[in-house]
Amino acid sequence: MKILQVSAELFPLLKTGGLADVAGALPRALLAAQQDVRVLLPGFPAIRDGVADAVQVAELDAPWGSRVGLRRGRIPSEGGPDLQAYWIDAPQLYDRPGNPYEDAQKQPYQDNHRRFALLGFVAARIAYGLDPGWQPEVLHAHDWHAALAPAYLAFAPRNGQPRVGSVFTVHNLAYQGVFAPWHFADLGLPAAAWSIDGLEYHGQLSFMKGGLSFADRITTVSPTYAREIQTPEQGCGLDGLLRHRAGVLGGILNGVDDQVWNPATDTLLPHGFEAGHLDGKAKCKAALQAELGLAPAPDTPLFVVVSRLTEQKGLHLVLGGLDALLAQGGQLALLGSGDAWLEQAFRERASASPRSVSVTLGYSEPLAHRLFGAGDVTLVPSLFEPCGLTQMYGLKYGSLPLVHRVGGLADTVVDATLEDMADGRATGFCFDAFDADGFGRAMRRAFALYRRPADWHEVRATAMARPADWGHAAVRYLDVYAKALS
Ligand code: ADP
Ligand code: GLC
Repeated sequence: MKILQVSAELFPLLKTGGLADVAGALPRALLAAQQDVRVLLPGFPAIRDGVADAVQVAELDAPWGSRVGLRRGRIPSEGGPDLQAYWIDAPQLYDRPGNPYEDAQKQPYQDNHRRFALLGFVAARIAYGLDPGWQPEVLHAHDWHAALAPAYLAFAPRNGQPRVGSVFTVHNLAYQGVFAPWHFADLGLPAAAWSIDGLEYHGQLSFMKGGLSFADRITTVSPTYAREIQTPEQGCGLDGLLRHRAGVLGGILNGVDDQVWNPATDTLLPHGFEAGHLDGKAKCKAALQAELGLAPAPDTPLFVVVSRLTEQKGLHLVLGGLDALLAQGGQLALLGSGDAWLEQAFRERASASPRSVSVTLGYSEPLAHRLFGAGDVTLVPSLFEPCGLTQMYGLKYGSLPLVHRVGGLADTVVDATLEDMADGRATGFCFDAFDADGFGRAMRRAFALYRRPADWHEVRATAMARPADWGHAAVRYLDVYAKALS
């Protein structure tokens, strides 16, 4: 099948979160399944520089008149075929340093509606023949940045060509791409697209609604989140629409990219390890404690956090539980960046207890790997979590996840209850009540299990063996693509 994947980020070229990991791994899994998949990305500097041998494919006018280009090249990949990639050449929109969505003051760019409308617009043009050499059968758009692709597709003149199917994947319903209504005039869509069944959302312009209203099929990144977003509590104002479209909505759990996240082959770890041979993991822990200035304590449970520091991630629970964590003899190592108050609060805790608490503010892919490699417990106490990847990296690296039982966290972690341990299913620690007590009790369970090494090792072995192959997810997506076409 010919598939065009449309996203704003793609690992390893550009990443601000899990979306990039998925956008990088899924096309490679589809290639491995012998599918003809290509990707479309905005021409951000990191994308432009990372796509090799780019040639000009076409020139076209954006809906608001400016001239833009479409280029095609390849993203080299180790141990598999290169990935064919298109990028939109529009330096006036994309040639800005740093974060793809915000300026240096962390403010969204004023012209984001144009920057991401163009992504959907060009996707629909490719669907109907912009590249004379290749046309997809299905468009697969990710998150609000690409959400207008199905809308443009729905209104595009087909010129007698076969219908192209569309799939829209919600990675996070909390980010919707909502803009002032007058920007609709810029988009070049017919007036019919502006309605309660289209892009209009309480008088505003909603990109997310473009995907949810016009895509043939909708997916999200875990079965539990697919159910949660149909409730008023977690529907972010769109639960009615999602219930209306429930017949074409489903959850497909993300996988883990084994090329990038495998403790046996991970070159970013100082020592490799695998289930049954965990000397390397102990060495990773010792190395990390030394690197971060933590006390060199092999038998102290090391809790790690790798996260955006936003309200979604529930990290105030970690702050609130930190005294208890230290009183029980644990260490905490955090890597993250985001909200100023959280950064400040964690920084203060690290300077108060430098031998037990380490806080690194910023973004570092290598340090993230070292943290999962060294950690005993990975904390992911998110308020909500569409899928979550860090708990899956924790599982694979034997750093047992401690999670709030929601969304993809509920679908990937099995709590260390006595019965699930007896059945050999337990992989981590889950809590239900999103409060200090719920979090604190799960942490107590982690400490209690840690003091029973035989049980700990068994749970860790189960966690490390949990299958998280992208191949399975790719098969599920192929089924959805086929339904979008039919
Ligand atoms: P989200 O996409 O909501 O941020 P996920 O758990 O799906 O959450 O994905 C987060 C991804 O970003 C993971 O690959 C994680 O390792 C990475 N990550 C988050 N914060 C940092 C950071 N400060 N440095 C390096 N990697 C980070
Ligand atoms: C979003 C979600 C996260 C998910 C990721 C990849 O960023 O917040 O839960 O894992 O997308 O699908």
